[in-house]
Amino acid sequence: MSGWRRRIAVTGGCGFIGGAYLRQMVPRHPEDLYVNIDALTYAASPERVAAVAHEGNYVFERVDIRDTKAVVECLGRHSITDVVHFAAESHNDRAILTPLRFVETNVVGTANLLESWRVVAKGSGGRFHHISTDEVYGSLPIEGGEGFTESTPYDPSSPYSASKAAADHLVRAWHRTFGLDVVITNCSNNFGPFQFPEKLLPVMISNALSGRRLPVYGDGMNVRDWIHVEDHCDALDLVLRQGRAGRTYNIGADCEIPNITLVTMLCEIIDQREGPLPGGRSRASLIEFVPDRPGHDRRYAIDASRIREELGWSPRHEFRQALEDTVDWYRTHRAWVENCQKSDEFRAYAERNYGERSGDVS
Ligand code: NAD
Ligand code: DAU
Repeated sequence: MSGWRRRIAVTGGCGFIGGAYLRQMVPRHPEDLYVNIDALTYAASPERVAAVAHEGNYVFERVDIRDTKAVVECLGRHSITDVVHFAAESHNDRAILTPLRFVETNVVGTANLLESWRVVAKGSGGRFHHISTDEVYGSLPIEGGEGFTESTPYDPSSPYSASKAAADHLVRAWHRTFGLDVVITNCSNNFGPFQFPEKLLPVMISNALSGRRLPVYGDGMNVRDWIHVEDHCDALDLVLRQGRAGRTYNIGADCEIPNITLVTMLCEIIDQREGPLPGGRSRASLIEFVPDRPGHDRRYAIDASRIREELGWSPRHEFRQALEDTVDWYRTHRAWVENCQKSDEFRAYAERNYGERSGDVS
């Protein structure tokens, strides 16, 4: 078929970031076709793309990226030019419980996708964009030390981050060996609507709204560098269209916060909106320090100078306002959160993860 400027396969488009990307890009680029390729694992939610599901430049395909035959067939049938690759097992606590699943999806799945695209899209002039993480660089000391740059050596700590590092290496190898046009972006911690309630913010917001304990790992002084998911997606759009072939771009919004500070902020915001708990207690009284996550990196921080200077990107969300808006989103979407939490699979995960930390379930 002709008529589209680009024919872009977006893997993992029913996930948190892939869904946000499609909600922004499908209306922004009506000249491009977006083919959402997703296996619909526990982490998927078709509601994330409901807003664009009926657009003429959007198609959904249920395909597992580990299935070579299905991937080749799908990329070929849609004459795919470009791939934006989000699909992954993305949660560190699960990587401790089921590490091989991370190797299968993130490493083998990425190799399979790359090789399928190499064969199918040869000569299309398209690009392979790997969505990666700042975790490939390992941990920074809490005091001092600049943020990760694109030349910081890889030093991953967890099965998740090691699998993403391996995938980055594969993407670079396919560029150097086969001359493919690839770009890699390494981003820090995202937050915003529709994040699955196993990650820090949705766990804390939904527990605080229900008056349940707030399980903070270790001493709560681990630092994460937060970015609103829409700012991340704007950066991805620029890199796909204007980034230099073979290049890596780090993405971050200069927003480093210790976990305990962030959880306390969330409690204040929720107390303001919902009133205090019975007895006049703040939700901060629900905070409970629980045994640490093994391999828990102390601090992440991104130096985003390259993408700011080369591509003119900057984040448009102000952190405090975006955090309040995110809390309000979860307050008005409690049914979506409860739906994510009600599967046997989710309960089994939560019991193992939090049960092993304190014997109590989140
Ligand atoms: P997510 O867990 O919310 O979504 C992952 C999606 O991939 C789901 O829709 C799932 O069904 C799909 N998927 C999983 N295995 C698949 C397979 N074998 N075949 C096809 N589809 C499959 O993930 P997310 O938080 O949206 O992260 C998306 C990407 O961004 C990941 O590659 C992650 O490593 C990266 N990243 C995430 C963050 C973050 O803060 N969440 C930060 C930096 C980078
Ligand atoms: O840095 C980018 C990465 O950010 C992405 O590559 C990952 O896909 C994404 O999951 C995220 O990884 P983290 O492990 O940093 O995110 P998570 O939300 O799981 O945890 C954030 C911090 O909060 C981390 O220091 C662990 C802590 N934590 C997390 C949970 C779920 C708690 O203290 N309690 C919790 O219940």
